[in-house]
Amino acid sequence: MSEKFQAVVIGGGPGGYVCAIRLAQLGLKTACIESRGSLGGTCLNVGCIPSKNLLNISENYHKAQNLSKLGIEVGEVKLNLEKMMKNKDKAVTILTKGVEFLLKKNKITYFKGTGSFKSENKISILDDQNKEIVIEAEKTVISTGSIPVSLPGIEFDEKIIVSSTGALTLEAVPKKMVVIGGGYIGLEMGSIWSRLGADVHVVEFLENITPGMDREVSTEFMKILKKQGINFHMQTKVEGIKKTGNSATVLTSDKNGKKNNFDCDVVLISIGRKPNTNNLNLDKIGVELDEKKRIKTGKNFQTNINNIYAIGDVIKGPMLAHKAEDEGIAAAENIAGQSGHVNYNTIPGVIYTTPEVASIGKTEEQLKEAKTDYKIGKFSFMANSRAKAIDAAEGFVKILADAKTDKVLGAHLIGPHAGELIAEIGIAMEFGASSEDIARTCHAHPTFSEALKEAALSVDKRAIHS
Ligand code: FAD
Ligand code: NAI
Repeated sequence: MSEKFQAVVIGGGPGGYVCAIRLAQLGLKTACIESRGSLGGTCLNVGCIPSKNLLNISENYHKAQNLSKLGIEVGEVKLNLEKMMKNKDKAVTILTKGVEFLLKKNKITYFKGTGSFKSENKISILDDQNKEIVIEAEKTVISTGSIPVSLPGIEFDEKIIVSSTGALTLEAVPKKMVVIGGGYIGLEMGSIWSRLGADVHVVEFLENITPGMDREVSTEFMKILKKQGINFHMQTKVEGIKKTGNSATVLTSDKNGKKNNFDCDVVLISIGRKPNTNNLNLDKIGVELDEKKRIKTGKNFQTNINNIYAIGDVIKGPMLAHKAEDEGIAAAENIAGQSGHVNYNTIPGVIYTTPEVASIGKTEEQLKEAKTDYKIGKFSFMANSRAKAIDAAEGFVKILADAKTDKVLGAHLIGPHAGELIAEIGIAMEFGASSEDIARTCHAHPTFSEALKEAALSVDKRAIHS
């Protein structure tokens, strides 16, 4: 007899494990199946956490090299990459074990293995010894995440031609690194290796980096990254990659057809990720996919099969950990008969470079396209006393508000701690606040958050410090 569960979650990433915890909180007998041997998914194992660890350490390394400018004389600053990587691995282990503890605490059965559908209610779990068990599920949530995309005909060896996973575990600092794709991964990983000493060249197909981001912010972002020493080759197409021994040549052509070949030690391909529906046996039970091979879901995260739900990177929407988590909670609440819901207009996006870039709501380009009348409030960190005091005054805050109602429609930040500051705008937008509401809220001095207040004041052209 196979064990029966009221809810089974396939995938233990931020979408899956959070969903499982919420299901258990709501009183359902829950199981979570994860194939990678540790919980936390892409995010904790090979994504958000290791990348933020290396961003932080490489930033400290860079700062340490420049301390004498601030009057701190230290000895020679040396890089110990092996130790740096061990430190990163420790952070990952602590966090993934923490998730395992949370599953236990919530009395969730954790199955290590690959889950697939035998039928709508029966799930097979195959462990790494190829031993199969079958469980029964009243409801199943698919949260199997996403995997990196490569260029046609090019395979990741994770040493020379790497995805983000390989770029997080390089054994030496490359002399030259070509990053294909100027998006989230390319710019975060490019920043890390550039700070550690690599000559980084970003090859981007489009005219701007981070497509989809407010244009003014992405232009400023590229300007700042260039100043930091990262090279950009825009509107450039990759025509092939040739591997020779321990190096590679990336063959490109620009918009005028001019060929340019880049010899390098490492090529990072970061041109996006695709939904992971491998090994699930979805065709057998008839779960529908959309045109981008994502699992198709309705408003309450139900697929076309009533008792099967899907959340996170494997469905439509931004591939972000907090989006997956919120969907996990909403799906669990819907399964338990509540009214779970996600507001897709207030999902922040943050790039953890220096300075950080953060955005929420509509961009100026989107408002123009929708023919919405809007006002802009902008404030530069150059005029923010805290940012000036600590020599981190690059960037600005841009708030977009409805021209008639003054309701905040979006905010786009580049500057110190932008990823933390954006939360204030998220709350304001959730409460339907106007820019006036932010402008009249007392902000402590001297803080970076005063730049938000000043940008809100600037919507009505009454900023004080500019
Ligand atoms: P995943 O985290 O991918 O988890 C899915 C899990 O399902 C995986 O562990 C997989 O092993 C498992 N699985 C797959 N198939 C099966 C199966 N058949 N049976 C059992 N288990 C299975 N997002 C942010 O918000 N902030 C960041 O700073 C950030 N940084 C990132 C940095 C990098 C380098 C990368 C690659 C991604 C980053 N992301 C970041 C994106 C974030 O990691 C994802 O959006 C998030 O992990 C998606 O969560 P998920 O639960 O949908 O899927
Ligand atoms: P991305 O979608 O962010 O960026 C891909 C970039 O590659 C785009 O600029 C695109 O124009 C470009 N591109 C596509 N095809 C190309 C080609 N053939 N040649 C040259 N350029 C090409 O994808 P990325 O960086 O791989 O990241 C995947 C996802 O992971 C992100 O979209 C994001 O959702 C998530 N992520 C989030 C992070 C965060 O929240 N801080 C950090 C890292 C990843």
